Amino acid sequence: MQHVRAHVLICAGTGCTASGAAKVEAALREELAKKGLDKEIMVVETGCHGFCEMGPLVIVYPEGTFYVRVQPEDVPELVESHLYKGRIVQRLLYKEPVTHESIPNYNELSFYKKQMRMVLANCGHINPEIIEEYIAVGGYEALGKALTTMTPEQVVDEMKKSGLRGRGGGGFPTGMKWDFTRKAAGDKKYVVCNADEGDPGAFMDRSVLEGDPHRVIEGMAVCGYAIGADEGYIYVRAEYPLAIKRLRIAIKQAEDLGLLGENIFGSGFNFRLKIKEGAGAFVCGEETALLASIEGKRGMPRPRPPFPAISGLWGKPTNINNVETFANVPQIITKGADWYAGIGTEKSKGTKVFALTGRINHTGLAEVPMGITMREIIFDIGGGIPGGKKFKAVQIGGPSGGCLPTELLDLPIDYDSLIQAGAMMGSGGLVVMDETTCMVDLAKFFLTFTQAESCGKCTPCREGTKRMLEILTRITEGEGKETDIALLESMAKNIKTSALCGLGQTAPNPVLSTLRYFRDEYEAHIKEKRCPAGACAKLAGYQITDACKGCGLCTKTCPVAAISGEIKSRHAIDQSVCIKCGACMTKCPFKAIIKG
Ligand SMILES: Cc1cc2nc3c(=O)[nH]c(=O)nc-3n(C[C@H](O)[C@H](O)[C@H](O)COP(=O)(O)O)c2cc1C
Ligand code: SF4
Ligand code: SF4
Ligand code: SF4
Ligand code: FES
Repeated sequence: MQHVRAHVLICAGTGCTASGAAKVEAALREELAKKGLDKEIMVVETGCHGFCEMGPLVIVYPEGTFYVRVQPEDVPELVESHLYKGRIVQRLLYKEPVTHESIPNYNELSFYKKQMRMVLANCGHINPEIIEEYIAVGGYEALGKALTTMTPEQVVDEMKKSGLRGRGGGGFPTGMKWDFTRKAAGDKKYVVCNADEGDPGAFMDRSVLEGDPHRVIEGMAVCGYAIGADEGYIYVRAEYPLAIKRLRIAIKQAEDLGLLGENIFGSGFNFRLKIKEGAGAFVCGEETALLASIEGKRGMPRPRPPFPAISGLWGKPTNINNVETFANVPQIITKGADWYAGIGTEKSKGTKVFALTGRINHTGLAEVPMGITMREIIFDIGGGIPGGKKFKAVQIGGPSGGCLPTELLDLPIDYDSLIQAGAMMGSGGLVVMDETTCMVDLAKFFLTFTQAESCGKCTPCREGTKRMLEILTRITEGEGKETDIALLESMAKNIKTSALCGLGQTAPNPVLSTLRYFRDEYEAHIKEKRCPAGACAKLAGYQITDACKGCGLCTKTCPVAAISGEIKSRHAIDQSVCIKCGACMTKCPFKAIIKG
């Protein structure tokens, strides 16, 4: 038998692939062969570790040494020093942003320490294109257990007891949804996995599908057994080619081993899966629009009821869940509902995967137990705000969500606490803002997105979001009227209550939450024609502060003679003359000129 002395894991997720992982892998294989080490050192391609910003990532086991931003030209040193002589290559280690300390071991990185990786447990650790690797870590045990030792009713009861709630945004109890579909009348039923993932910045579903596709397939098969469905669809956006490729490979491998198809585990249960590629419209993530799209129709929502559980795909009872929801199922069945219900808060059980983006040191995917605070996510896991800037707010839940200000950093995160705070879990996108972000501009950014993605079927969303966007635009351009805030609030309330689907019903959320916590910024734009963050181009002005020493350098620099002042006394800018070129700010030796 071949003796393997070390494993070198190369992340082959989308992020690391984009930063050149394939070239690093080719160089590594070549170098190992050249040195005659290719028989004793195994190179393994894995899925995403969630730390994509630091890619390409290379991890060497058994030590668990974590190398970041590895390039092909680093490979000869890595092989010679670490794999040949056993000496860690210090310069390729990750350095903590605050302490600048080099961290050699995977588990010691602050990014991973507070995480609880359950859904992501296999991502980055197994080869997602080899079903045996999934089976070796307990894969398909849940399906075997459900089919051979549990009745469909028992599976549904276990799911209900676990307290799992849908991870696609709404947080509806999963077991209850399965129960509705199981009890619905119909000879034919379907299971659908929602992998449309349209929220800007969210990529947890993509990572799970790329890094551990069998987990989702297994969760769907368990659901099929529980509700009495023999067919399922995975609706994935076409912009996820790697996820689609790995799903196709995984489905084929599961079929070849009899884990999908006819008479699975000799139980008489049949289950087949198909992939449907979506064209990337945000509204197609809405469940009724998604079902229409699978049927080959235009992806437009329809009124509910009837809910898909009663009348879904081709009018048949259909259970639709998100990728992360299905990925939770196998562990609930194998480890039990009580174990799962022991994690999280009273009403939100288990973990949630968040996508950290924006002004944060560690961008990436973090899986944390429900009930953790935003401070722990942003500062302990995310490494805080770069460039010594101050935290201002975090937008949670993407365009349907809302922002949380500094005062709410210690709020324990769960479905209900977020709703109370005027935000929502959504799919788990977290966009962190620092003092340079204008909150009016942020609301405009998200509304621009939802407005463009509105399908146009109902007037409140189609016309209302457009009118709200016009108001926000004029406020950020210094044309805001005193009545605009009240107008925005009343329009937001009307759209929320009268729009047909979740897109319109939630589109005003970013405006309402920024108005709730940052009303003074709206007022500064409208009344003082000033953007306090200095972000709105048409309002941005340069100001001379008390730090001015009166050296006069800026006066000589200004191309339009907008600055005046006596030597050794504070200077001032004439805003009516200033053309906002920023030259004075760059020149001032005392950093006395600021934007805002
Ligand atoms: C505009 C809009 C977009 C949505 N996009 C997604 C999506 O990309 N992925 C998803 O799982 N759910 C999305 N949803 C929620 C789905 O309609 C549905 O509630 C969800 O797939 C149910 O799964 P769950 O119970 O596991 O959360 C979206 C809803 C709306 C209104
Ligand atoms: S709320 Fe918006 S996206 Fe939803 S049906 Fe109406 S127009 Fe379409
Ligand atoms: S360059 Fe700076 S310190 Fe000198 S006069 Fe201008 S603002 Fe004041
Ligand atoms: S921003 Fe440009 S135009 Fe305005 S005061 Fe400074 S140098 Fe002059
Ligand atoms: S793609 Fe490599 S860490 Fe995410």
